Amino acid sequence: MTQPDSYTPRTVLVTGGAGFIGSNFVRTAIEEQRFTGGIVVLDNLTYAGNLENLADLKDAFAFVHGDICDADLVRKTLEDHAVDTVVHFAAESHVDRSILGPLVFTRTNVLGTHVLLEASRQRDIGKFIHVSTDEVYGSLGPDGAFTENTPIAPTSPYSASKAASDLIVQAYAKTFGFPAVITRCSNNYGPFQFPEKLIPLMITNAVRDLPLPVYGDGLNVRDWIHTTDHTRAILAVLARGVPGEVYNIGGLNEWTNIDIVRLVLRLLGKPESLITHVKDRLAHDRRYAIDPSKIRADLGWEPLIAFEDGMRQTVDWYLARQEWWTRVMTGEYQDYYKKQYFSR
Ligand SMILES: NC(=O)c1ccc[n+]([C@@H]2O[C@H](COP(=O)([O-])OP(=O)(O)OC[C@H]3O[C@@H](n4cnc5c(N)ncnc54)[C@H](O)[C@@H]3O)[C@@H](O)[C@H]2O)c1
Repeated sequence: MTQPDSYTPRTVLVTGGAGFIGSNFVRTAIEEQRFTGGIVVLDNLTYAGNLENLADLKDAFAFVHGDICDADLVRKTLEDHAVDTVVHFAAESHVDRSILGPLVFTRTNVLGTHVLLEASRQRDIGKFIHVSTDEVYGSLGPDGAFTENTPIAPTSPYSASKAASDLIVQAYAKTFGFPAVITRCSNNYGPFQFPEKLIPLMITNAVRDLPLPVYGDGLNVRDWIHTTDHTRAILAVLARGVPGEVYNIGGLNEWTNIDIVRLVLRLLGKPESLITHVKDRLAHDRRYAIDPSKIRADLGWEPLIAFEDGMRQTVDWYLARQEWWTRVMTGEYQDYYKKQYFSR
């Protein structure tokens, strides 16, 4: 059962609001008229950020084009828009890119988060949601699931940078009583995800009858959740999450990568002969699984989208929005794709 709200945000700064999950969050918040003072999106539009994701809603939020590492800009944005709440999505988010070029991950995910935290502390922000990831916990064996008490043990430059930012957020909560809450969600899927990530990569390749590159034996396990369910979880944490706490978010929905790829092929009516096994990712975590008992019991949240329905809807979205994914797969993406799949 859902508990009553105890925190009412007014004007919300959403960092990374032009990315995959951030834009979904902005869309839902606008459609449900969640914040009386409105939404400000701060995003520096990296390869993964795309204002087109919110083009139909462009008059419904304010946009600031800039970097979360820019302390003056962050301070001015919080002040100019009288922001009282921050939901922090902005990050470098792709593990493979963190292996090819790790430094930008530390800059954005660690330094950027710290700059944002410090500016928010100085302005007496009422609540700060730090959107983290289950990857900070490292790799699981065949049994068990991550709880909020699982020690963090990241293995990639991406997950290490997220873990480092989590520790700074926790230090601010402890030392300054800063009202920050951390969420750690499992793998997201849904519309507007950049095609470098597993599910959209497989869909967009299969549509074009290109090989589907599967790392190693394909038996790595991930716990998948629709991005709209993640958004609803963040809204619940915003309203009722306890400052200083961590909330794990997951769909109790474990799949091996190879089964995900087979599902995509089945939904598209394409042959399994498109599957090509490629050299494994370095230090590829074997299994992630989230125990979401705490957010379910304490905040009354649970996922609503059944996986096969969400996947069918996602495949249909990519089929209908070919012009979107063709456009975002620019020259930069082509260079990355070649490095990642052909020249390692
Ligand atoms: N995708 C997942 O499965 C998943 C799961 C759990 C947690 N997360 C976390 O959720 C958040 C959002 O993930 P996503 O998949 O939407 O990422 P994404 O890569 O699609 O989007 C990231 C956004 O941040 C922006 N950005 C990057 N660097 C910036 C900077 N220096 N200043 C301002 N903006 C910057 C980008 O332009 C982009 O709009 C991340 O913090 C990620 O760690 C993602």
